[in-house]
Amino acid sequence: MREDGKTITMLTAYDFPTAAILDEAGIDILLVGDSLAMVVQGHETTLPVTMDQMLYHAEMVGRAAQRAMVVVDLPFPEGQREISRSVDCAARVLKETKCHAVKLEGGAEQAERIETLVTAGIPVMAHVGLRPQNIHVDGGYRVHRDVDSLVVDAVAAEKAGAFAILIECVTVAAGKAVTEAVSVPTIGIGAGPHTTGQVLVTNDLIGLTQGYTPKFVRKIADASTLIRDAATTYRDAVDDGSFPGASESF
Ligand code: KIV
Repeated sequence: MREDGKTITMLTAYDFPTAAILDEAGIDILLVGDSLAMVVQGHETTLPVTMDQMLYHAEMVGRAAQRAMVVVDLPFPEGQREISRSVDCAARVLKETKCHAVKLEGGAEQAERIETLVTAGIPVMAHVGLRPQNIHVDGGYRVHRDVDSLVVDAVAAEKAGAFAILIECVTVAAGKAVTEAVSVPTIGIGAGPHTTGQVLVTNDLIGLTQGYTPKFVRKIADASTLIRDAATTYRDAVDDGSFPGASESF
């Protein structure tokens, strides 16, 4: 798609029905993101989600996707431990789900791991810039502005065999510089308009996330209000005896 000048669309998916709808809508890549720790499980960071939980969700999304590519995050700390352990975890994604690839946070320091995974037949999307699994070392979520080190990370990941680079929360200039420095697709989230694809967390996009959402989110629907209104309408109908009616009874 990059070669053809077509922008790649990617959204997160964590369950069968949502993945099927996103697939039907023509989204190119579904990401079973470790963001599920926050937007599905209700944790404050992405750190608590386990490999088994990722596989549970990946299995549903993989079955739902008829045309989209499906990428699965290696959760903390499976992408940071011994490389052979990362291979075992990533291989489970390909063996136990119908998903196609894994995503791994990090760039230059992950080159050997990326190369080993790709050599083992496991496609890898690298993730540079803001790395949510590194939150406690970085001391918080912030915009990454160091263009040179971002380019070094992306180039190292491409050289190691990554098929795409996700770039999170960097300046517009950095998103452009990284994209120009590599030939594989770059997929941005809060990385400006010059990347070759865009990704958002679906729950943010549809207004299902409670509380804070980052500046880079575009909320296109208000699913929270939709669900709340449906629930109160149902509650009122049960309360006033209008549900179930004759047509809803045997
Ligand atoms: O887990 C996730 O949702 C991500 C985002 C950056 C898209 O990695």
